[in-house]
Amino acid sequence: MVSAKDVQELVKSKLKGYKFIIVSNREPYIHMYTPDGVQVKTPAGGLTAALDPLMQATGGIWVAGGSGDADRENVDAQNRCRVPPANPKYVLKRVWMSKNEVDKFYFGFSNQTLWPLCHNVFRGPVFDKSFWSGYKHSNTLYAEAIRQETKGIDKAFIWFHDYHLGLAPKMVRNGAPKKQKLVLAHFWHIPWPTWDTFTLLPWAEEILDGMLANDLIGFHLPSYCVNFLASVEKVMGIKPDYGTLNVKYKGRTIHVRPFPISVDFDTIDKLARNPGVKREMKRVRAPQYIPYKYIGVGVDRIDYTKGILERFRAIDRFLEKYPEYQNNFVFVEAGAPSRTRIPDYMKLNEEISKAVDKINWKYMRGYWKPIIYIEGKLNPDRLFALYRTADLCVVSPIQDGMNLVAKEFISANVDCTGALMLSKFAGATEELEDAVIINPYDVEGFADAIKDTLDMSPKEKRRRMKSLRSHVNRNNVFKWLSDFICEVAKFIS
Ligand code: G6P
Repeated sequence: MVSAKDVQELVKSKLKGYKFIIVSNREPYIHMYTPDGVQVKTPAGGLTAALDPLMQATGGIWVAGGSGDADRENVDAQNRCRVPPANPKYVLKRVWMSKNEVDKFYFGFSNQTLWPLCHNVFRGPVFDKSFWSGYKHSNTLYAEAIRQETKGIDKAFIWFHDYHLGLAPKMVRNGAPKKQKLVLAHFWHIPWPTWDTFTLLPWAEEILDGMLANDLIGFHLPSYCVNFLASVEKVMGIKPDYGTLNVKYKGRTIHVRPFPISVDFDTIDKLARNPGVKREMKRVRAPQYIPYKYIGVGVDRIDYTKGILERFRAIDRFLEKYPEYQNNFVFVEAGAPSRTRIPDYMKLNEEISKAVDKINWKYMRGYWKPIIYIEGKLNPDRLFALYRTADLCVVSPIQDGMNLVAKEFISANVDCTGALMLSKFAGATEELEDAVIINPYDVEGFADAIKDTLDMSPKEKRRRMKSLRSHVNRNNVFKWLSDFICEVAKFIS
């Protein structure tokens, strides 16, 4: 098993003499004003959850967009603060954007153009010139923040994250002094669509040109790597080597590689055994909360790609088709609202509330109702108590690069009493063979699978969960990092 300490050693030996910088739009710690003073929150979403333990292990600088209302008051003159605030391990440098800039860059091009385009889930991407200009402009702000941090430095390794920063690598490379040795890498945390979908984007060539300034480009799955290379071939007329997954551009060879991201298995496993979790588990099962035979759980950032409505449709059909589970089964959904300024997300929040209300009204009997909807992010004790109490966890995206909730549930299910139901459209499905695989669009099949999973023998559940746990334990987030760093090291001289 690769540990945090191994990664620390690896970074020290492989990146010797290189300043380590990672760059993402979302920041790992957000300062917020509350009635009790300034509090520090952590965001929902896989990217920051995966990278924070790595940065805590390796140290370095994380450049990210400031997003909290108390963020500006909690940085120094270079816009930096040390995090985690309680036990500082690395530097967070914040990039500032005005509301208008955020509207165009984050709510606009990133999340109304690239997000739906890459997930390809029947939501028309918006192709708006002002979003595109805003995206270009904000990428220059990130590039400038990186320039400040690399000024006067001989060597730096800069690791970009995700679809918000498609242009920054080229800006950084072009703006660097000739003598400076920069190794640039990019991890794209969402799918890369097939070339015919990608080329709908009027600015496809500029995005590819920006990304090809990297030395290494990582995706979760081999198929996303091939889609990326095919987009390069179609748009730029360059023939990549599909065997090695390399492509030559402007005299450099760029490596495109799959690295399936994961979670910090050991830490989650330990946290899930906390005494506080045990207390919460009792509370979950108390007569005034969920004293019913079966519990299902879903945990999501509210997003149309996550298949939450499809999940509710299947629960509705399951209760209709198998009425013996009425008064016996409760599904707890914890949904953290996100990107709520975007019309599609606003609409989805309303649709979810309506669906919960409709299904609960249809079946409710006395105290029992089938769905408990909790809006927001759960604290770790409550989350892990639910993961340990649940008979099943449903992860049903209609498209998802990887999905870390699936791996988080597995890591927390320390008693091996729960089963994972996983959509065939989640990247995680390629690895998690012992999950119950469902198609979220197939209401009948999905409803039947809920029944079959609830009826599964404890022995079979245990067998599957043990094998899933051993897989995630072996392929933890530190393995992801060490594989990535070993590939980066090929460019280090
Ligand atoms: C996905 C994306 C991340 C993003 C996260 C949360 O995992 O790949 O880049 O940070 O969702 O979304 P948000 O828009 O809140 O940052």
